[in-house]
Amino acid sequence: MTTDTAWTQTSWRARPIRQAPTYPDPAALAAVESRLRTYPPLVFAGEARRLKANLRLAAEGRGFVLLGGDCAESYGDFTANILRDTFRVLLQMAVVLTFGASLPVVKMGRMAGQFAKPRSSDTETRDGVTLPSYRGDIINGPEFTPASRTPDPARMELGYFQSAAKLNLLRAFASGGYADLHEVNRWNLGFVERSPLADRYRDLAARIDETLAFMSACGMTSATTRDLRETDFYVAHEALLLPYEQALTRIDSTTGDWYGCSAHFLWIGDRTRQLDGAHVEFLSGLRNPIGMKVGPSQEADDLLRLIDRLNPANEPGRLTLIARMGADKIAAKLPPLVRAVEREGRKVVWITDPMHGNTISTTANLKTRSFDAILSEVQGFFDIHAAEGSWAGGVHVEMTGQNVTECVGGAHRLTEADLGTRYETFCDPRLNAEQSLELAFLVAAGLKRRREVGRSAPALAAQ
Ligand code: PEP
Ligand code: CO
Repeated sequence: MTTDTAWTQTSWRARPIRQAPTYPDPAALAAVESRLRTYPPLVFAGEARRLKANLRLAAEGRGFVLLGGDCAESYGDFTANILRDTFRVLLQMAVVLTFGASLPVVKMGRMAGQFAKPRSSDTETRDGVTLPSYRGDIINGPEFTPASRTPDPARMELGYFQSAAKLNLLRAFASGGYADLHEVNRWNLGFVERSPLADRYRDLAARIDETLAFMSACGMTSATTRDLRETDFYVAHEALLLPYEQALTRIDSTTGDWYGCSAHFLWIGDRTRQLDGAHVEFLSGLRNPIGMKVGPSQEADDLLRLIDRLNPANEPGRLTLIARMGADKIAAKLPPLVRAVEREGRKVVWITDPMHGNTISTTANLKTRSFDAILSEVQGFFDIHAAEGSWAGGVHVEMTGQNVTECVGGAHRLTEADLGTRYETFCDPRLNAEQSLELAFLVAAGLKRRREVGRSAPALAAQ
């Protein structure tokens, strides 16, 4: 298939598509799509441009990215408390990382729209009954019944309205006083005191505290300084359900360019990144900052072609590559890709997703991930970039602010036997609040060492 036909909002429809649900009632689907096309955009193009400018810093070694949130948001988790808790942990992580790196940290949540999931199989069979796989709440329901598993376009509209309400509260949190740096630091001091590894984290937390006290003595308080009182927070999700994404594209009136207005940042998953496929076609025509997952099957020459298709102007900040190799594969798989990108002078942000290559099944058949494997992949990511002379630009995590028990390990030493206590994910296992903060403290300590010893790899503290 050729790649040089002109992009339009609908040009993806002529391309082969993977992971697309089959809606039994096309007229109902068309009706929802046409309503969504008339609704207000969820984000504004100017915000997406500001995010791109911030990501540019990370592409040029002057910034760091934190992207985190649920694997799959659930329509049932539509409460202020759940949203607040995840937002709070992301802010706590970001403060620690900012201090460690001494660089601005771009904060993005897999929130307010992360509702569609790629699946390894189109169907699921239980006790001889076969039904469509659960594909995320924006498509169908998780209950194993024919009614729930049938893709229902009405769910798209609910996704839009839930996203709008969540974004509204996130914006209020970010600018209405909740994100005040002094508060965030107090929460972190509380975390450190509760942690079994308090001794390891106390020093960093105390230094941040001291720095804030010094700034305050110099007259920089929340009352005088906007950056202490408020924060910039962006939302992101996998652009998987293209009828929904297409219905939310808008032309920016100030530039005449097309933007995806369902989120600031959209990414292509590891299963849908075919060069001539629908998802690459669709995102190639939007001007948002975008991401692409890069898994162990990615070859260097194909990666370069994808980069050229998604970022033909080689604009720094436009494209973020999210490497998700697995702790046991990263040393073999990532270096050739980083080397090819460096050799060809392609400007991308590299971030690590140490979650998706490290999913294992327990004897009780639960999906889990070990904190040590996650940490080991992050370490590998830093080591490789240090060796290649490129910039390790950020981390992506699946996490929640709730005290779930889905990943094993961490300072509280969760074991497989603990997983039954609070296993709540609808998709992949997430780090809980304590595990997320622990990871942030370890990465921050490593970033601090990277700063002190130049660009050599930071050693994350051994577990
Ligand atoms: C995800 O980020 O939830 C996901 C499905 O990842 P990947 O595309 O890397 O498998
Ligand atoms: Co996931």
